[in-house]
Amino acid sequence: MKNNEIKHVGVVGSGAMGSQIAMVSALAGYPVTLQDIEQESLDKAKTFLTLQMDRRVEKERYTREEVDQAFERLTFTTNIEELSKANMIIEAIVEKLEAKRDLFSELDKIVTDDTILATNSSTIVSSKIADVVSNPGNVCNIHFFNPVLVMDMVEVVKGPHTSDETAEVSMAFVKSIRKTPVLLKKEISGFIANRILGKLMDEAVFLYENGYATHEEIDLVCKKALNHPIGPFELMDLTGIDVNYFVRMQRYSESGDKKDKPARIVAEKVGKGELGKKTGKGFYEYDENGTKVEVKK
Ligand SMILES: NC(=O)c1ccc[n+]([C@@H]2O[C@H](COP(=O)([O-])OP(=O)(O)OC[C@H]3O[C@@H](n4cnc5c(N)ncnc54)[C@H](O)[C@@H]3O)[C@@H](O)[C@H]2O)c1
Repeated sequence: MKNNEIKHVGVVGSGAMGSQIAMVSALAGYPVTLQDIEQESLDKAKTFLTLQMDRRVEKERYTREEVDQAFERLTFTTNIEELSKANMIIEAIVEKLEAKRDLFSELDKIVTDDTILATNSSTIVSSKIADVVSNPGNVCNIHFFNPVLVMDMVEVVKGPHTSDETAEVSMAFVKSIRKTPVLLKKEISGFIANRILGKLMDEAVFLYENGYATHEEIDLVCKKALNHPIGPFELMDLTGIDVNYFVRMQRYSESGDKKDKPARIVAEKVGKGELGKKTGKGFYEYDENGTKVEVKK
């Protein structure tokens, strides 16, 4: 399959990532089917994307016509069968290995022999999933960054099972949706950015949990001293504290090393449902527009 033969993009999971992956693909001209098991999630995705794209039209990053045409190319559905049209499918469902394996084996029943099946997982290498499908050579990681509408980088990861063609087509696909891809020729859990970020997060949480500084102070130091555009706690709120939790649980289940378990504060926040921006409260509090609100202490 050549890149220009990618005729239809399928995205599974219409949450924070899947909705935006679908949108950038539609903006680049691909017909896109965005599938989710929850109608409510699809409705939320549509509202969110409409708001985001309206803002971009106001700022003249896109014309109204470009955005309207992209929405015309984008189909929202709960019916998995509709993904059979796609020959590039990107999975962006919950970060749980078993859920991803179940989904890939469902997809295997409906896709053609040369459909690329990519996972957007933050940590799970595709070799942990590829054995459930008939053509493991078609499986790889295509890892986007949040928010996809803004972030330019995409990591494409080739597992030992991934064919050269799948890696090449995936790289070309990423370029075609106006993102910058990097190809990891050898797979490793967490890939590049999240492995480096993980070390930073661990240190930030260590300093916070041991009372050396507040989360606000740590974020401020990272921004003002290290020139990071966003602090580690702000980033966790943006990403979803539950995502951090599931990533660490996944790593712990693979390594059995207690050091890989989610941090105490992360587990506490998840237990309380304080997942960050998406629930209105994480390390910080947010209003209904997702803007950070100052809390008087
Ligand atoms: N949030 C981030 O910053 C980020 C960044 C990069 C990668 N990722 C990865 O992307 C994936 C999705 O993350 P997210 O933050 O968008 O999650 P999310 O919780 O916002 O969305 C997940 C969506 O998947 C749907 N879903 C669950 N099971 C499904 C199934 N079997 N079939 C169809 N839909 C299903 C849910 O209804 C939900 O709408 C995860 O693997 C995560 O590790 C997340």
